[in-house]
This record gives sequence, structure tokens and C-alpha cells, in this order.
Amino acid sequence: MTKLKSRIAPSLIAALVALFVPQAAVAQASFDAESGIFRLDGGDVTYAFGLGEGGVLKSIYWGPRIAASDRLSVPKLGDISSTDPASSIDAQEYPGWGGAFYTMPALKAAWPDGNRDVVLRYRSSKLEPNAVVIELADIRRPLGVTLRYSIDPASGIVGRSARITNNDRVTVRVDEAASATWSLPVGGDYRLHYLTGQWAGEWQLQSRPVTAGSTVIGSRRGTTGHEANPWFAISRGEAREDHGPVWFGALAWSGSWQIGVDQNPRGDVRIVGGYNPFDFGYRLLPGQSLDTPVFFGGYSDDGMGKASRLLHRFELDTVVPGSPKPRLRPILYNSWEATGFAVDERGQAALAEKAASLGVERFVVDDGWFGARNNDKAGLGDWTVNSRKFPRGLKPLIDRVHGLGMEFGLWVEPEMVNADSDLFRAHPDWVMHMPDRPRSEARNQMVLDLSRTDVRDLVLETMDRLLRENDIQFIKWDHNRDFSEPGSAALPPEDQQRVATEYVRNFYYILDELRRRHPKVEFESCAGGGGRVDLGVLHRADQVWPSDNTDPYDRLRIQDGFSRAYSPGLMMAWVTDSPNWANDRRTSLRYRFLSSMQGGLGIGADLNKWKAEDFAEAKRFVAAYKEIRETVQRGDLHRLISPQDGSDRSATFYVSRDRRQAVLFAFLHSGSRLSKQPAIQVRGLDPAARYRVRPIVGQPGAESPVQSGAFWMSHGIEVPMTGDFQAEGRIFEIVP
Ligand code: GLA
Repeated sequence: MTKLKSRIAPSLIAALVALFVPQAAVAQASFDAESGIFRLDGGDVTYAFGLGEGGVLKSIYWGPRIAASDRLSVPKLGDISSTDPASSIDAQEYPGWGGAFYTMPALKAAWPDGNRDVVLRYRSSKLEPNAVVIELADIRRPLGVTLRYSIDPASGIVGRSARITNNDRVTVRVDEAASATWSLPVGGDYRLHYLTGQWAGEWQLQSRPVTAGSTVIGSRRGTTGHEANPWFAISRGEAREDHGPVWFGALAWSGSWQIGVDQNPRGDVRIVGGYNPFDFGYRLLPGQSLDTPVFFGGYSDDGMGKASRLLHRFELDTVVPGSPKPRLRPILYNSWEATGFAVDERGQAALAEKAASLGVERFVVDDGWFGARNNDKAGLGDWTVNSRKFPRGLKPLIDRVHGLGMEFGLWVEPEMVNADSDLFRAHPDWVMHMPDRPRSEARNQMVLDLSRTDVRDLVLETMDRLLRENDIQFIKWDHNRDFSEPGSAALPPEDQQRVATEYVRNFYYILDELRRRHPKVEFESCAGGGGRVDLGVLHRADQVWPSDNTDPYDRLRIQDGFSRAYSPGLMMAWVTDSPNWANDRRTSLRYRFLSSMQGGLGIGADLNKWKAEDFAEAKRFVAAYKEIRETVQRGDLHRLISPQDGSDRSATFYVSRDRRQAVLFAFLHSGSRLSKQPAIQVRGLDPAARYRVRPIVGQPGAESPVQSGAFWMSHGIEVPMTGDFQAEGRIFEIVP
């Protein structure tokens, strides 16, 4: 320990880095030499770790913010039994698989001589504003790990990542690499919450007690996936939506990922997340490094609701393009559900005129505009305008759309090819495949091998040309199938297991480069609906398409699940036709609007079928949305009655950041004389302020009397509804 202290002595001079930022957002990173403890304080959170015996980097504390003067200590562990020596149960920040260690490691590596033992020990550290950088190294071999910790001053969300560096003279293969290991206080009565799904049924909330053993969620599909999303929350004891302690995390990676939650028989809970170790193998030549994605983790002292709100703010203020002031989402029209592949200049122009008359701000041409794309069997890969559908190219349509005062957007799926495409005929080796093996197709398409530099550059140049030659403001970037046979003709056999990782890196590279070259163009991430939503892609995409399921009732659950991890301000929601294609359900236009107005509003209906009264009603909702858009997209979301709870009703409440405006959305799923509809108690208003309440769209004079915020939060507001699939909306406004 003395030796260690002398090694880190230089950093003691800068032992405390405090940032003089506004009071509410003070954060600091510090090191206390006496106790050997590093601390990150931000928002309402403190995160601490420190040096145990022999330089083991131990997890110490993650929870409510404690006073700067509070003393923490590094816990000492005795052996539990001969089968469980201390090292096997130690709460380490970044354990290698080595020594006596039996649970999920953060790092597993192999050397050419057969050694697979990795024991990491502290070497040095550096304090930065709101961040700590720690150097670890193996006890015998020159394998280094740089851990980076940062804390967001506003939310207290900690970002963690690792860089693994081979300083040896031989090649080392990394077989598992997590971004971080998080530890929770011992012995809690914990519940794990996570999101699962499928195509057209994403974002379903799962909940289960954390008991001895492991729960592992992840994707082996090469992309984020519909089946699970890289987010978790762990609540303790009686924690619910609006009270109690909740820890949560989200991984910023759009490839195969894994998050494991493990509880040992003593009750220690660890969360390990990062690259999915399945079929992972990353060779590091001498001097090379591997960077992990960032794993963000946060703590809420006020239930699942606050956990989501912290993440929402963090995303809008620090993650997405344009943060901390990302542009509000324009109202878009997309004709996919109306016209399918049958897009042409005349039809799209006619729809554009109708959309503009509603107050739509962005018109998007979906699939079908390019190559031989008349159905999903051909054309992917050939990104030239279909001259039969657009004989004069895209320009006349784009000009028309601009002339109508709207932005122009276009759908692409540049990572894919159909076998029936000129690109595949010319370069069959450019799709992922393994030697002499069949190439599985899904939706009649194959995945381009984006791990290849030539393919990466082809996709980049194709997209760059499209954006240079056309005055486009928005790209809906789709990815409609997962990987299969992830091999590359361009990599040697020993590097085949890095294909999936390089793929995502190159995908990010392309988006980053396109944004750099075309800073005004916005992007939407879509993958057969919500198959690629994570904090990695959200660093490069302005919005996401959460699901192909546009039934407004199903959407209530989908949106509720989505909002657990991601801001409603990033989620597009379209008003489409009734009955809905997904399930034949009939709903009113009002219901469909109120369902979709809870995120970024879009319209995807066949406007050619609409009657004059539909246009008149839609216009009123579009105008009302513009009044509440900032509150919905940037405000604080309170899930008052979750559609996951199995009640007859559900309700959400959005409060603007300055609490001057709030919006209530309420839905009755199935009217029954047997059930009651008590007043809905809203949350998050200024208790002392007085609020006027009026319907989102309704008769003048239907306002409620002015009451205090405290009244609306304790007495509540009556929202009577009768019948099936009913919807109501109310706007709360402060009265001076
Ligand atoms: C995916 C998307 C849809 C639509 C189609 C087009 O399914 O999720 O919104 O763009 O592709 O083929």
C-alpha cells in the first residue's frame, strides 16, 4: 500500500478537481490518498471505488450523494470457505478472468503460449474535470487496461469504458471485454427490469426478482436487436414508479451486446455489460488496443419515473446530435403505409400537397424510389433513382415539397443487398458469409460486409453522392434484417470473430462522416421498427422509429416501454389508418392523434382516402401539437397510470422544464360500469403556482376552474370517458 501511495503521489496535488459551474450542477472528481478512494460526485449521486490490498480496484459505493466530508473505507474481505477465497467474491471494478474467480469477468484474454490467466492491478491514475482515468495492468504480462470514468454534473449519470492495450511483443486475443462491472449494496431485496420484444412488438417491460444466479440479456444478432434492449433498471424493496431507490444503466453500442446481472449466494449483486462474448475474438497485435463502448449508469432516489427522467435529460442534453439544444422534431408525413413500394412523382406530390395543408413540416418518401424496387425482392444495393417512377429524377418532387414549405426526406437501407441487384451480381463477396457455406436471406436480402474498408467507403460515397446531388434534409436509415454467417472474405481466418465489431465501428464512421459533410441533414435510426435504438446510434441519429406497429392502442404499451430508457422527444409516432394493418383494430382519429402526440408526431395515413372532416380535425390536432411540442419533447414525463399495469385506463403527464405548461394524455381502453375512474392525480407541477386547464382540442368554454398545482396533484382532475378506446387530452398552463 505504501508503494502504491508513492506511485500516485503526483496526482495528490490535484487531489480535488472541483468545477465552478452553477449550483444545481456541481460535480467533482476527487481522490483521497489516506483511504485510497476515488470519488465522483454529480447531481444527487456519489460513485466511489478504491484501492484494496495489493492494488485490487474495488467497488465501494454507488447511491445517494453523500457529504464531501463523509469518509468511506475500502471493505476488507476474509475467505468465506476453501471453495470461495476472497478473490472470487471481491467486488472489483474491472476483474480479469484469472486467479480464483468464478463469476462473469470484465476481461478474458489468451496468449499464444496457452496462458489465459489475467490478474489486473492498479498502476496509476489521473484526475480530470468530472472524470477519473485509471491504469491497470496484468501482474506479469504487459497487458494494460485504461478505465475511464466520467460523471454528468446534472444527472449524476456515470459513463464507464475500458481500453485494453497489448504492450507485449506477441499477439494477444481478447475473448471477452466488458465496458464496466457495477456493484450494488449487499443484501438488497432487488428487482430487475428490462425490455424485450419482437418485430412489431418491441419495448415490453419485464420484471423479476434478483435471486442467486444470473440473468443475461443481450443480442447475438450483430445489431442492437428487437429481442432485448441494452438497458436495465434494478429497484430495491418497495421502489415503484414514484418512490424508492433504482439503479439503472444503458450501453452505447449498436452491435452484439450483453448485460449480465449476477447475484452470488452471499447476496452481492454485480452487473457486467459490454461486447457480447459469444463468438467474440479480437486479436491485438503488439501495440494495438481495443476500446469498449461506454456503459452509462445512474441512480434515482425517487423510483422508476425519476430514473427515466434522468436518462431522458441526459440523452437530450449530452448524447444526441445538437445537444444540449437539439432541434425540436418536425412533424413529418411518410407514405409507407399508404402506398408501399408504389411511389412515383405524381402520387407523392399529391400526398405532399395534402400533408402540407395539415401543417406537416417534413415529407418523407419511403422505400421503393430506387433501382428495380417494386417489391422487397429486388433493388437493395442499387441506389439510383427508378426512372420509371421518377422519369425526371427526384428534383421536381423535392422542389414541389420545398415549395409547399416542407423539408424533404428519403428512406435508405444502404447496409443491405438483394441477390437481385446489380451490386450483388458484380460483388457477391461483399456480403457477409463464410467460405463454402450458404448465405441465409431474410426479407430476401443479405447484409453487406461493412467490416471491409472498400464496402464501408462504397456505402459512404453512395450516401454522400445522394446528399450532394439532391437537396435532402432528412434520411430514414433502415436496417431490416439481423446478421447471419458473420464472416468476411477480406479478413484472415484468425480475425473472423472481429467482423461484427468492425461492422458497427464502420457504421458509426459512415454516419459521423456524413454528418460532418452534411451538417444540416438529420437522420432517423430504424431497423424493421425499433431494432437499432441505443445510446451509440443516438449519438448520431436525431430520432428513432420505435416500431412498425402503428396501432395506437398497442403503441401505448410500446411507448411506455420505450420511455423507460429513451426520451419521448426522440421517438416518432405516426397517425395511420383505421382499421390498423397490424391487428384490424378500429379507433377514432382523435384517439390516434392523442396516442401519437406523446412523442415526435408523424402522419402515415393514406390522405387520399380522408374526408373533409378528417382534414379539419387533423388540422386542429396538428396545430395543438405545435403548442405543446416543446413540453412533450423536452419536458419531464410522469407515467401516471402505466398501460403495463393492466388497468382499464392509462395516462401520461408531461411537464415543461420551467413548469409553466403541462400536458395530460388519458386513455380508456375498455369502458365498463364495473370499473371506476377516480380523478387522476398529476405530478411534477409547481405546488404554489395556479394552473388553468383546457382540453387539447375541444370546445371553448370547456376549461376547468383555475386551481393550484398542489390541488391538481392531490385532488386530481376528473377525466370522465365512456366506451372503448377513448382518449382525452388536457393542457395545464400557469396563470400569472
Ligand atoms: C421497415 C421500416 C418501415 C418501412 C419498411 C420499408 O420495415 O420499419 O417503416 O420503411 O421497412 O421497406
